[in-house]
Amino acid sequence: MKKVTINTLLEMKKNREKVSMLTVYDTPSARMLEEAEIDIALVGDSLGNAVLGYANTLPVTMDEMIIHTAAVSRGLSKPLLVGDMPFLSYQASIPEAVKNAGRFFKEGMAEAVKLEGGREYVDVVKALINAGMPVMGHLGLTPQSVNQLSGFKVQGTDEGSAAKLLQDAQILEEAGCFSIVLECVPDRLAGLISSKLMIPVIGIGAGPECDGQVLVWHDVLGLSGREYKHTRRYAELAKPITDALRKYKEEVRGKEFPTKDNSFSMEDAVFESLFWE
Ligand code: KIV
Repeated sequence: MKKVTINTLLEMKKNREKVSMLTVYDTPSARMLEEAEIDIALVGDSLGNAVLGYANTLPVTMDEMIIHTAAVSRGLSKPLLVGDMPFLSYQASIPEAVKNAGRFFKEGMAEAVKLEGGREYVDVVKALINAGMPVMGHLGLTPQSVNQLSGFKVQGTDEGSAAKLLQDAQILEEAGCFSIVLECVPDRLAGLISSKLMIPVIGIGAGPECDGQVLVWHDVLGLSGREYKHTRRYAELAKPITDALRKYKEEVRGKEFPTKDNSFSMEDAVFESLFWE
């Protein structure tokens, strides 16, 4: 696999090649993602609910995102590494947004950042790009606005909101975003937006006509205990992992582990010397 850059992704769009993107949060998982030749590794703020046990993404901090982005960077080199700007890291002011985005590149070794929102963040997007930091947009169901949206609901289902979504996507493209995530919007709207933009549109719950797809690590591997209409489990790992842990406990209790084979030996003379005093 060749190194994936933002130019690679633009070329893929031109050649109608579908882009694969997956969230990832730690080094060993990043190694597997690289081995599987996934195009984009997203350290999503879904870190909050997928890994850190929060109810949603709102409590996730910059420090948490940076620790996990840096960990992922140590496990891969070929996929494009995108860091997700957490809630309140870019909403308050442009200088704060530039500084926080900069941490993803300086400390997390990210190669791009993602942020949620449309026209209201166009100045932030431009400021980051002017500072040399590629930006991926995120429209539709934007989980950081869950309270404003009154829950996790499909977006763009009426004429007004569908037209606004299309305009927002065009505004982000004009502002310089290299790609846009479209989350939970009707498939026909997602197809229309994808066809109107020159940059790749990566869907999640946005149907098959997007230029690529993104899923959350734990959903793909059956580790999240949840299944949504728009996701697919490619493995059921929770049960084999739990079974393995149970077997370990049983073998410890049953004195089957460790055996001599798992133990380190000591010279008889050294051992016996302990009794000579
Ligand atoms: O945080 C995340 O995992 C995301 C993806 C679902 C796109 O933003």
